[in-house]
Amino acid sequence: MRAHKESSKQHSYGGRTMLVRFTLNGESKVEEVIPNETLLDFLRRSEKLTSVKRGCDEGACGVCTVLLNGKPVRSCLLLAVQVNDAVITTVEGLANHGELSEIQEAFIEKYGFQCGFCTPGMILVTKALLDERADPTVEEIKEAFEGNLCRCTGYEQIIESVLRAAELRKR
Ligand code: FES
Ligand code: FES
Repeated sequence: MRAHKESSKQHSYGGRTMLVRFTLNGESKVEEVIPNETLLDFLRRSEKLTSVKRGCDEGACGVCTVLLNGKPVRSCLLLAVQVNDAVITTVEGLANHGELSEIQEAFIEKYGFQCGFCTPGMILVTKALLDERADPTVEEIKEAFEGNLCRCTGYEQIIESVLRAAELRKR
């Protein structure tokens, strides 16, 4: 069903495309995008970044979260053409030459995921939070995750993962 939806979007503008310039996970890019294609569809279809998940497709679950100029956004609510000149980060951009980031290490250490479907979004929200506040309180962590749903963990391990990531980042 989803595959059909994605492929029908690709052809809905009769083959017309627009050029968009952006930085994706540290790499400068100029790509042709379909004018009515969401950033979520573009990242999955054209960039093959399948860590960016599709859940509700209407801004309610947060599994499609990416960082746009360092801030978490829901990629299902943005058009790809809106990211011209922007810096986009997905979870693939966090590891450094194959070495996991402290945040990824912390999520593994503290069992911050089970099925993993929400995890890329959770990790990116954590990065944005810790980039802004090196030592967030539990309340601040809960506030940061307000729009990100997890059906597996009950959130406790995710909060512990963020606190651990804050510690690891100070080493
Ligand atoms: S798929 Fe974007 S918020 Fe749910
Ligand atoms: S780990 Fe399964 S939805 Fe969060």
